[in-house]
Amino acid sequence: MVQNRFIIFGGTGDLTYRKLLPAFYNLFISQKLTKQDEILIIGRRDWTKTDYVRKMEPWVKEFARFKVEEDKFLEFIQQIQYLKMNLSALDDYSILKDYVTKSKAQVHVCYMAVSPQFFDPIVEGIHQIDLFNVRLVMEKPFGTDLLSATKLQRKVTRYFDEENIYRIDHYLGKDMVRNILTIRCENPIFDAVWNNRYIDHVNIFALEQVGVENRGSYYDKAGALRDMAQNHLLQLLSIIAVDNPHDLHTLSLQQSVVLHSLKLLEDSMIMGQYRGYLDEKDIDSKSQTETFARFSVGVETSRFQGVPFHIITGKEMMYRDTAIQIVFKSPYSGQKPNILTIQVQPKEGVEISFNIKTPGKSDEISEATMDFCQNCQMQNRINTPEAYEWMLMSIMLEDGSWFSHWDQIVTSWKFMDELIQKKPKPILYEKKSLGPEGGLTAEIVECIEKPFICKI
Ligand code: BG6
Repeated sequence: MVQNRFIIFGGTGDLTYRKLLPAFYNLFISQKLTKQDEILIIGRRDWTKTDYVRKMEPWVKEFARFKVEEDKFLEFIQQIQYLKMNLSALDDYSILKDYVTKSKAQVHVCYMAVSPQFFDPIVEGIHQIDLFNVRLVMEKPFGTDLLSATKLQRKVTRYFDEENIYRIDHYLGKDMVRNILTIRCENPIFDAVWNNRYIDHVNIFALEQVGVENRGSYYDKAGALRDMAQNHLLQLLSIIAVDNPHDLHTLSLQQSVVLHSLKLLEDSMIMGQYRGYLDEKDIDSKSQTETFARFSVGVETSRFQGVPFHIITGKEMMYRDTAIQIVFKSPYSGQKPNILTIQVQPKEGVEISFNIKTPGKSDEISEATMDFCQNCQMQNRINTPEAYEWMLMSIMLEDGSWFSHWDQIVTSWKFMDELIQKKPKPILYEKKSLGPEGGLTAEIVECIEKPFICKI
């Protein structure tokens, strides 16, 4: 009997090829995925398993963190099956029913690796065939605004209990994101100053060098605010601003308190669109969708009142870098601020810059930096588990911490719906640039360009 059957709806999509299958391969190599587990790919194309394997192989080879050895790959594909059905057609779910009846499994992990408009028929279809022991995994974005998210929630909770719903935000699987709470709460040197008395402002940025690739039809409706900010970036913000959580299981609820207290700072929004976006596949030729977004918010809690958080994301940028900079207040003007930087990707680690007496001089002050580089050891090849490995492992272990609670979805959409209504028109920017004017400050560019000093 199969132990965990992962049913991947959207098995021929970008997310499955680029993220899920490489993560499954990594789990297989690190023996977290056993021979009793199965990955059932749902696809509409008339393919055999051999066709599918041929298609996915290059992706796994490119994106898995372990080198793909021929013999290991052959073993891995034993665990993959391909089932042809149309996930939008309710009648087709009898095909899935036949399959699961013939080959039984203890747990069915139904993974929706599809755009939100397909969530509805999948939930209906799974319910209709009465699949038992289901863990329902839903990719972000959960809805496209508060109204659609609420409708979806009603539908899903009509058939499934909240504890069996896993709303994925893969940023919560990134190793350095999981490290934020440890860094800030387990070190008195940071914990003691984690408030508005000492912190001047916070920069949170996620910059990408890729464009919309082949996801134009989804992206053109979403834009950077719905695609990155409502979920990934508000996650990061709320983990930085949340009061020290005592229990990871309540983290998501505590985060929703922070999200509830957000206030958009006047005139802080800059939207951009990269030149050439309108020529991409499936993009409306007059689209005003933003591929770059910058905005600043205040967190109206006693801990962070008055501290601006600057949020920035963009595609087709000069750099790929996701990081959080905590910039401390300087006691007098002209003094360089202390900065704590948490590097999420592609560099993983922590940097602290602080003031020292310039060596050999008695009256000069210079800046010094100390850092811890988590991924230097393997020459830039990331050696910690990938985000999706953590998420898949948590689902297997029925560990719902690090997944988004419904309250968090509500508060983030409430904030984002209002912000989207006020967003200005996008300004054109060149591909592989710093984005529109005013988008990236010198402080951020300096942070991105500074390499880690320490090579462990
Ligand atoms: C996804 C967005 O959630 O995150 C994509 O839909 C984006 O547009 C991706 O490219 C970025 O993820 P990562 O892990 O590469 O930073």
